[in-house]
Amino acid sequence: MRSGIPDRPASRSIMLLYQPVFFRAMHLTSKEERTLAGEEGPGRQNAMELLVAIGDIYGARRLIPITSAQVSGASFKTIGDAGIRFLEDFSKEAKATVRASVNPLGLDMKRWRSMGIERDFRAKQARIVSAYASMGLEPLYTCTPYLSGNRPRAGQHVAWAESSATVFANSVLGALTNREGGPSALSAAIIGKTAEYGLHLKENRHPKVRIDMEGIPPGLVPLAGYVVGRIAGNRIPYLPGLSLTQDEHKAFGAAMAATSAVSMYVHTERGRASRVDTSRVEECVSLPESELVECQESLAGDSSWDLVTIGCPHCSQAELRSMAKYLKDRKPRKDSDVWFCTSRAAYAACPDAVRVLNRFGKVLCDTCMVVSPIESMYKRTASDSGKAMVYLPTLGKQKATFRTTRQLLEAISR
Ligand code: F3S
Repeated sequence: MRSGIPDRPASRSIMLLYQPVFFRAMHLTSKEERTLAGEEGPGRQNAMELLVAIGDIYGARRLIPITSAQVSGASFKTIGDAGIRFLEDFSKEAKATVRASVNPLGLDMKRWRSMGIERDFRAKQARIVSAYASMGLEPLYTCTPYLSGNRPRAGQHVAWAESSATVFANSVLGALTNREGGPSALSAAIIGKTAEYGLHLKENRHPKVRIDMEGIPPGLVPLAGYVVGRIAGNRIPYLPGLSLTQDEHKAFGAAMAATSAVSMYVHTERGRASRVDTSRVEECVSLPESELVECQESLAGDSSWDLVTIGCPHCSQAELRSMAKYLKDRKPRKDSDVWFCTSRAAYAACPDAVRVLNRFGKVLCDTCMVVSPIESMYKRTASDSGKAMVYLPTLGKQKATFRTTRQLLEAISR
């Protein structure tokens, strides 16, 4: 004990927060019991304690194997010094046993200087990166792991933490995951299992509210997700007639997850209609186009932004190429900074598009406008993302302005 502080590793202290206060209902196999008893070392024991505690809280009966994990809590801005201590303690003792990738960091590992990131922030971020690396997590640093190789198949159970990726996995890929917290996804990665509750159970994947959308005006898919999330609250929405591209699903689901507590929507694309059980729908709601336009007006802010950001969730290859095609023969305005946020994989796959976009701003990897420390650099940020409209004012301390992607491209070029 030093200065009244118990000599307990940070990872252990955080695990204790999850200790169940009631009788354990989960059935564990004898191997899982041995892990829990510490026979496989303290790292796996900590991870197992956390999974069991969560399983007990949510009434899970057992642990189930997962094929992958996706871990959030990778930016120094969001986890701070306590998070670093937790990860460094954990990393001494534990290794991932299934494929596991990491969410965006607080900076671009290569372009951090040009972002205006301070050395101290960079040094703290490097410790986080090295802790995850020593645990064997894949350094994807993206919220779109499903576009960077970590793409589960329909029916597979996974433990993903990033809210936008979770909703994509459940709703578009047909995988099964709850919206994990960072420590629980990390524990699942280490044990290779997660507690079977929530969206891992088929009976919890039925829609409770039907939302009939009249149509979605051009560029407003992210706001459709934003409004659907507000209507849905904590109920899985059923969206008959919804027809989106993969990139539109990415933007729609991210916004929906940001304004609601649900991590899944049900649609009828690609013959899914026959598999939808609508018998538990409790309410039907019409969503006219005019409501999306009203939402657009309410988020319009003004045009006095000092940063334009595109890529929440991270831009896909198709999005990078499409923007480059539009901008190719135009000239940059340079009235404000511009960030195109993407994954390292998409960046590497389309060098020509990246070259064009870099004339108009910075193509950044490993990070995004929300988890990087933009509050120390900018005051008003424009974005085409419904999710960013929720988090820029809170996590980013920004005045936020919504514009469609096309409007932003027009604004940054002539
Ligand atoms: Fe991704 Fe950052 Fe948006 S993690 S979903 S770009 S807030």
